[in-house]
Amino acid sequence: MCGIVGYTGKNQAINYLLDGLAALEYRGYDSAGVAIISPSRHLHVVKCQGRVEALRQRCDDANLVGSCGIGHTRWATHGAPADRNAHPHTDCSGSIAIVHNGIIENFEELRRSLRAEGHEFKSETDSEVIAHLFGDAWNGPAKGDMVGALRNTVARLEGSWAIAVICSDVPDQIVVTRCGSPLVVASTEDGAYAASDVIPLSSVTDHVVQLEDGDIALLEKDGGITVYDASGGEVTEPKGLDIDWDASMATLGGHSDFMGKEIAEQPEAIERLLKDRLGKHGIEMDELRMTREELSQVDRVYIIGCGTSYNVGLIAKTLIEHWARIFVSVEFASEFNYADVLVTDHTLCLIITQSGETADTLAAARRLKGMGCKIFAITNVLGSSAAREADGTLYVQAGPEVAVASTKAYTAQMVASALVALRLAFANGSMTPCDVEMIYRELRQVPDLIREIFNRSWQDKQAVPIFQDATSALYLGRGTNSTTAYEGALKMKEIAYVHAEAYPAGEMKHGPIALIEPGFPVLAVVPDDHVHDKTVSNIMESIARGAKVVAVATDGDEEVAQLCEQVLWVPKMDEYIVPIVAVVHLQMLARYVAKAKGLDVDKPRNLAKSVTVE
Ligand code: G6P
Repeated sequence: MCGIVGYTGKNQAINYLLDGLAALEYRGYDSAGVAIISPSRHLHVVKCQGRVEALRQRCDDANLVGSCGIGHTRWATHGAPADRNAHPHTDCSGSIAIVHNGIIENFEELRRSLRAEGHEFKSETDSEVIAHLFGDAWNGPAKGDMVGALRNTVARLEGSWAIAVICSDVPDQIVVTRCGSPLVVASTEDGAYAASDVIPLSSVTDHVVQLEDGDIALLEKDGGITVYDASGGEVTEPKGLDIDWDASMATLGGHSDFMGKEIAEQPEAIERLLKDRLGKHGIEMDELRMTREELSQVDRVYIIGCGTSYNVGLIAKTLIEHWARIFVSVEFASEFNYADVLVTDHTLCLIITQSGETADTLAAARRLKGMGCKIFAITNVLGSSAAREADGTLYVQAGPEVAVASTKAYTAQMVASALVALRLAFANGSMTPCDVEMIYRELRQVPDLIREIFNRSWQDKQAVPIFQDATSALYLGRGTNSTTAYEGALKMKEIAYVHAEAYPAGEMKHGPIALIEPGFPVLAVVPDDHVHDKTVSNIMESIARGAKVVAVATDGDEEVAQLCEQVLWVPKMDEYIVPIVAVVHLQMLARYVAKAKGLDVDKPRNLAKSVTVE
C-alpha cells in the first residue's frame, strides 16, 4: 500500500528512484512521482497518475539531474488517483518535499488549523499535511535541523506512517521515519538508500538496517546513516538484516509475467521449506520458540489472516483439528479486531501473512498478544513487522512474490501450516512419530505432484472459453476443498474480473443455485476424497439446471468425466494434500482467462499486494 524510496549519494538519484519504484509497484500503482534536488539547489517534482513507466517517460522529458531525491508509488486512500494527489507533496515554499505510506487519521483537523494559519493545499490527500507541518517546524522551532523538524512533525500526527523528506536548503540529506508502516535503510559506498522493503535494495546491497517504530534516520551523501530512537537518543547499533534474496529473484527471468513465474516456482519453494524438517522429535521447528510441554498444553488456536492468507488459515484449521485435535477459529483480521475474543490460558495465535505487513493482521496479533497469547507468524518476508513482533516466525522461503495475486506464497503457507499442525499433533500425542513421518513423506511428494499439474496446463487452457465471456461463475467444493474453491474463485475475481462466487457445494441449494441458468459456468472441486459422492450429487443438481461444469477430479474418475464439460485432472494422492496441489490448476486457469481477456495479470485494477492501512 504505497511504496517509498530515497537516495542521496554520488550517483544520479533518478536511476535508483525509478527502478526502486518499479520494484515496489506491487504496493500500489495509481500514481507515481519523484522529487530531486538539482545541483543549483532547486527542488524538482515530477509526478503523474498511472504507472511508473509513465513517470519514467515524464522524467526523461524533464531531464532530472541531482544526486538526492525521494519517490513514491501510490495506492489511493484519500483523494482520487490523479496527478494532483500523487506524491511527493510540497510545503508552501516549494523547498520541502515529502512522501508518505500510511494514513494520517487526524488530517482533517490538522488541515483545518494549517489552512487557518494561511497554508494552501494542492491535493485532497491526508499526506499533504506532513509537508506543511514540516515546513512550519523547519522555519520555526527546528530551524536547520532535519531530524528535529521531523520529530516535531510526527508529534502532531495520529495514524500510521513511513515518511521520507528532502529540503533544498540541505541538498544532500534525507530524513526518514516510521510508525506502523515498513521502512528500511542501507548504507553503501555509493550513498545512502531508503525503501519500503528490501526488494529495491537487493540490487545495491545485501545488508539493510531495519528501523523500529519511532526511529528517525538521517541519510547523508557519503552513505552515512544516523538513527535516533523515539526518545531522541542515538541508536548506536541499529538492527541489521542480511538479504538472502538476490536481485534476479525479483526479475522476470524469461517469463512474460510475474504471476506465471511465481506459479512455476512453487515446487522449488516447497522443497526449500520441507528440507531437513523431519528429526527424531517429529517435525523440527525451533522457530516456534515453544517447548514441547508448552505446545502440548495448547487448547485453542486463533488463526488470523486476510485475502489469500485467510484461505490458508481455513486449510490450517482442518489440518490442526484433524491431526492435533485442537479447536481452531479462523478469523478475517479486519473483522476480528472489532469482535469479542475468547482466549484461554493456553491459546496460540497463528498469523498468516505473505508480506508480514498487513495492518489488520498486525493489529489482531497485537490484540491477542495483549491478552497473553503466544503469537506465531507464518510469513514470507524476512524482517517484516509480523516477524519482528511475533514470539516465533516460520519463514516460508518462497522468495519475493511480486504479482499482486498470491500463488507461491499460498501453497508454501499451506505446507508451513501442515508442519505446524504436525508439530502440535506430535507434542500433544495425537499423532505418533510414525504417523508424522508418513504425512511428512506425503508432503515431500507435493513438488513433483505440482510439476505434474504443470504438464497438464493444456487442460486449463481448454477451459478458458467457458469463463472468458462469463460475468459470473460458481466455484464449489466440500471439506478441505471448499477452500480450494474459495481460493480459485478469489484468483478468478482478482485478475480476470469474473464474479466467481465460491460456496460449499452442499450449501449451494440454499441460495446460489438460483443463479444457474443454461450455460452458467460452475467449477467443482471433486477429488477422490470422503465427500466425493456428495459433491457429485451437487454437480448433478447444477447440470440439471443447465450449468456447464468444469471439474477438478482425480485421474480415472470416469463418472465425473462423463458428467462434466471438462475435467482438470489431478493425480491420486492423500486427500489432505489435495488442496495444495489442486489449486495450481485454478491459479493457471485464472491466469489464462485474464490473459485471453488482455488483462495485466500482475497488476489487477484497484488492488495492492501489501495492505498497510486498516
Ligand atoms: C492483499 C493482496 C492479497 C493478499 C492479502 C493479504 O489483499 O492483494 O493477495 O492475500 O493482501 O496479504 P498478506 O501479505 O497479509 O498475506
